[in-house]
Amino acid sequence: MLTPSLIIQKKRDGSQLTKEEIEYFISGVVKNEIPDYQASALLMAIFFKGLTVDETMALTESMLKSGERYEFRSVTGPKVDKHSTGGVGDKVSIILAPLAAACGLKVPMMSGRGLGHSGGTLDKLESITGFKTQLSYSEMSEMLKTVGCGMIGQSEKMVPADRKLYALRDVTGTVECIPLITASIVSKKVAEGTEAIVFDVKVGSGAFMKTLSEAKKLSQSLVKVSRKLGLKSRALLTNMNQPLGSAVGNGLEIEECIAVLKNENHPEFAYGDLKELTLQLCSHMLELSGIVKNIAQGRKLACQKLQDGSAWTKFQELVKAQGGQIAPFKEAPRVTIWKAKKGGFLTQMDTEVIGRILVELGGGRKKVSDGVDPSVGLLFYKKLGAKVSSGEPIVKVFSKTDTNLTELEEFFNSAIQISKIRKAVPKLVLGKIE
Ligand code: URA
Repeated sequence: MLTPSLIIQKKRDGSQLTKEEIEYFISGVVKNEIPDYQASALLMAIFFKGLTVDETMALTESMLKSGERYEFRSVTGPKVDKHSTGGVGDKVSIILAPLAAACGLKVPMMSGRGLGHSGGTLDKLESITGFKTQLSYSEMSEMLKTVGCGMIGQSEKMVPADRKLYALRDVTGTVECIPLITASIVSKKVAEGTEAIVFDVKVGSGAFMKTLSEAKKLSQSLVKVSRKLGLKSRALLTNMNQPLGSAVGNGLEIEECIAVLKNENHPEFAYGDLKELTLQLCSHMLELSGIVKNIAQGRKLACQKLQDGSAWTKFQELVKAQGGQIAPFKEAPRVTIWKAKKGGFLTQMDTEVIGRILVELGGGRKKVSDGVDPSVGLLFYKKLGAKVSSGEPIVKVFSKTDTNLTELEEFFNSAIQISKIRKAVPKLVLGKIE
């Protein structure tokens, strides 16, 4: 007979679980027949003993079965999405979805909220006044037909098993686990109705995966499980040893995305890496979907659609169709400049600390139920490799009040390194897994 405690013991002792056992456990969790303490115990056993590819597949399928699954059969054109494993200042999706749509793809993008140090696309989008991130199936289908992309959050009915398990993982120290991350992400990607997916697996101080070897393992797992479930898939391993672009903070990040979409030569946003990564991911989406024959053609098309304003037009259509109104960034009232304590080269950033500073300012959440303030943020004047003089501004901080600012500045100074010797700037794309 199947019982939760026998399944927990079996995994605790390192044995392989059957499909039936996994299905029984997940459906029990979703129906609230298995209590949180037993679900947490199994998560911890998986954290330590791992899952085989077959078990990860079974977990992904059980999670997928726990809720609704979208299939946009009436939408013509290749449906392709991108999913990032999470970072700081990662605003790529907001530029990429309209850009890919402008290139002829259909992008049913389902994103998440920020949690802990990593930001979330939904929070960024919700800093646009009126922007609705909950759309019904028929509204999303209409978005794909008319605009070419839609950007939504996970509905209550979609992969409820992930909602439950993710909330438990978040408070039980079981987030950083490759099979659990794989099942969580892939179940949602299959449920959102995409046919192909490019994963942006972040590596470095601001990512869940701190080393290239861990990130490679996660990429292989994501690609393999997605493929087995019928999605075309590929992963790029990309650098998260500093925030992408210059902006960290929800409203500020939207402002930076708009600058990229408008091809603006903005005085404060140094968005070269953000634009480059967006173009590379878009090229892969185009090639994976078969719209172009190779990456070079994909890049050419993506550059053209960004340059000629088509992506900016698409973004405006997207925002309007989802009820939003584009307006200038309303910054928090207190503006402070944090300056370099000494001269040299900026050689290292603990990007997770930067994400945590944003949370302390109110721009991210510590618990799933927390709200976020779109007006706070950090605007970086310097990126890795930059020469800095003592007393030179490194970052502009937008905050609601002065509270904690001195402490946060110390925290910030402990997170960056200024050295006499210049170090090579880390590569943006570190590898590809297919
Ligand atoms: N993002 C997800 O959706 N799930 C995880 O487990 C980690 C990152």
